[in-house]
Amino acid sequence: MTKIITKNPEETLQLGIKLGAKLIEGDLVLLFGDLGAGKTCLTQGICLGAGLDNKTYIRSPTFTLINEYQGKTPIFHIDLYRLETENEINNLGLEEIIYSKAITIIEWSEKLQSDKKPEEFKFGIHERLEIHISNENETTREFTFSPFHLTPRTPPLFPLL
Ligand SMILES: Nc1ncnc2c1ncn2[C@@H]1O[C@H](COP(=O)(O)OP(=O)(O)OP(=O)(O)O)[C@@H](O)[C@H]1O
Ligand SMILES: [Mg+2]
Repeated sequence: MTKIITKNPEETLQLGIKLGAKLIEGDLVLLFGDLGAGKTCLTQGICLGAGLDNKTYIRSPTFTLINEYQGKTPIFHIDLYRLETENEINNLGLEEIIYSKAITIIEWSEKLQSDKKPEEFKFGIHERLEIHISNENETTREFTFSPFHLTPRTPPLFPLL
């Protein structure tokens, strides 16, 4: 578990860029945190770090639910905020994306968590990088990184900075 604090959106963007540069095909990033925590801001950095050119505008997929980009691998940016029922989540085609060779980033991953066992996720998700974000105050955010069974890589994911 690694904790990193950012003091403004630019620092969060830079953190995302560092992370994105170290992601490899098949990686799944699960984001947790309240409205305005900085999930989309971090994702914008991740996409840039993962090779998306900075002319591509990375918008929140709150309404589109799934955005796909082409970086060093395909990148899927998913936002589950608006999904309410089990059926809606099950019918999104998430399983195919998660287990593809893309990099997948999911906002509101709380919605994939089992109510009774928070360490268990839908679709048998096992290999993942969990990032829990907490709002310390207006502009300070704490990012807690917890990797589970990720594919080893060189250089290793951690230390991130
Ligand atoms: N350290 C920080 N890191 C990131 N964002 C910050 C920080 N400090 C302040 N902010 C502000 O917090 C907001 C974060 O917005 P963002 O859309 O990334 O959140 P989100 O977690 O995706 O929210 P949502 O649940 O609505 O999708 C922005 O308005 C940004 O300016
Ligand atoms: Mg968002």
